[in-house]
Amino acid sequence: MVTKYTFGVPPMTEAVVVPQPSFSGMPTPFSVKEEEGKRVFSYTLGKDDLVFGLGEQMRGINKRGWIYDNWNTDDPIITEGRTSLYGAHNFILVFGEKTFGAFFDSPARVVFDIGYTDPDELTVTCGDVDVYIVEGDSAKEIVREFRRIIGSSYVPPKWAFGFAQSKWGYKNEDDVRAVWKGYRENGLPLDMIYMDIDYMQDYMDFTVNKERFPDLTALAAELKADGVYLVPIIDAAVKAKEGYHVYDDGLEKGYFCTDAEGKPFTVAVWPGESVLPDVLNPAARLWFGAQYKVLLDQGIEGFWNDMNEPAIFYSKDRLREAIVYAAGELGKDLDTDAYGALTGKFYTLANSMEDYNSFYHNSVDGRHVHAEVHNLYGYNMTRGASEYFDIYEPDRRYLLFSRSSYIGHHRYAGIWTGDNASWWSHLKLNLAMMPGLDMCGFLFAGADLGGHGGNTTEELMLRWLAFGIFAPLFRNHATQYARDQECYAFKNIGAFRSILNMRYAILPYLYSEFVKCAKSGEMLSRPVVFDYPEDARARTVEDQLMIGASIMIAPVMEQNAKGRYVYVPARMKMIRLKKGGNAFSERIVEKGDYYIEVPLDEIVFFLKEGAVMPLAKPAKNVASLDETNLRWLKFIEEPVEYEICRDDGFTKSSLSNFEKIKVEP
Ligand code: GLC
Repeated sequence: MVTKYTFGVPPMTEAVVVPQPSFSGMPTPFSVKEEEGKRVFSYTLGKDDLVFGLGEQMRGINKRGWIYDNWNTDDPIITEGRTSLYGAHNFILVFGEKTFGAFFDSPARVVFDIGYTDPDELTVTCGDVDVYIVEGDSAKEIVREFRRIIGSSYVPPKWAFGFAQSKWGYKNEDDVRAVWKGYRENGLPLDMIYMDIDYMQDYMDFTVNKERFPDLTALAAELKADGVYLVPIIDAAVKAKEGYHVYDDGLEKGYFCTDAEGKPFTVAVWPGESVLPDVLNPAARLWFGAQYKVLLDQGIEGFWNDMNEPAIFYSKDRLREAIVYAAGELGKDLDTDAYGALTGKFYTLANSMEDYNSFYHNSVDGRHVHAEVHNLYGYNMTRGASEYFDIYEPDRRYLLFSRSSYIGHHRYAGIWTGDNASWWSHLKLNLAMMPGLDMCGFLFAGADLGGHGGNTTEELMLRWLAFGIFAPLFRNHATQYARDQECYAFKNIGAFRSILNMRYAILPYLYSEFVKCAKSGEMLSRPVVFDYPEDARARTVEDQLMIGASIMIAPVMEQNAKGRYVYVPARMKMIRLKKGGNAFSERIVEKGDYYIEVPLDEIVFFLKEGAVMPLAKPAKNVASLDETNLRWLKFIEEPVEYEICRDDGFTKSSLSNFEKIKVEP
């Protein structure tokens, strides 16, 4: 059951698609007060209450004990003290004395203090807001109910579940071919190669540099014949340059964000001086989406949308101010305060509140200053592309995901979790985020495997991939400043082959479970306690997840570890996948603690009692996966039925094609 309470006049977000009657008054179980023009909602947590949710956010699966500032932010230094990331997913689920969900639907800043100021208090501070209190008999039911009102989740084409290689730094066709060759010659599976900003002409969206990519259509076709899709990046900001058709056309139509006087507001991002498409205006949003046509026409079927918090390197006026200030300091003897003031002028140029308070949108519900609707930008940029794809080829599924997002976005596309680093702690953070994202509808999600910033190692890469095979978005991506991290760049290629192959072996399961969950509102990746709510130990499990209906995973996430301890909350069958999934061993384990050894080329997971899981023979790509001759992992005494998705892999209309397979013990 959902009850909606409205406070003030919050800007329209279109996060909720099943309309709810609105009440005024106390949003029980919260109390509310006004403080400095803000609303503060409070709830006293029970001693052992857990708090889940918040999608893409810092810290553990249980969010209790920290403060989270939901304000979409482009900042790649993701250390433990951070409070904001690239997405704002304002749904929490309190699990304990009272179990309930709460969604704070406001596109401006929303701060969740979950036992940070006072260990026993949960407070949520925001402006005008719609609060949805979600009730149900269990955590799973509450999530189902919430997902019902926000609408079902995006399903990409099936090839998007294959393995992807990406790197900022592939500059031309030769670089792309080298990656393709590197994978194929080493017998490593591959379904996608990503194209980062260097494919464009001077970083201008919807252009292709003809010297670097003389014939993109031919290249895309040649790779596709081998089951490899090219996936270009699209950035939010449009270069402000006369003669550039996207700029000229958008300017003429009045589709860019404007300043207080109604003139286009300029910011600087990759291409230098740029403007921001006003994607909150439905006409401008669709116009921006229609620009993707130029790449679709060249055979491109997948895109990743970036810099859409929106990221701003600087605005011209503020840069000028900083330079004038710096010139005034030239030759002076600067003490620490003066030096701090000088550098501060430059440090604070990026993503400044002053800029976010200086431009405006013509939204469906009127004119808004950007700061009031900030968290909706990435969502609507991405939605524009999706809305256009529906026109371009209505029944086809395209790969589409974005860096920034808000709840509602999950109906149109997936997300990746931004610029993480090659740190073991970020592998753990990747795992911890998955169930929170799932609760908010973001099923097609994943992190940059191996880490984006800094240098990865062979061991970290392998362990990260071994976790990543269970995440829908399975992409190795890194910055241009990092050492090479393509799987063939390492010494122990055999171990990489084994782990990547396992992804394809489990793909019939992962894909079928994904499609079922996207439609039903069930969670694909869940905290262990959601399946074992009566188990006190399960409440504290932070490094294991339930994935789909049948299994629990327990990845190794420590440097030099030969294995790890696993808490098994009920009788299960331990499965050890070997040799790329071509072989496995199994052992029944009772509820309890176990130390498991996990060599770098193997994966261990746990099958629930009464469950089965299909396994395919590994393949070089999704297109050549043989799903007719499946093997079965099983822990059953009676025959059971397993529903496997038998869609064609790319149309929307075939998504409901399931085959019920009877599995004998
Ligand atoms: C941003 C993206 C990253 C990309 C880079 C260059 O930092 O998050 O994935 O590689 O920009 O486009």
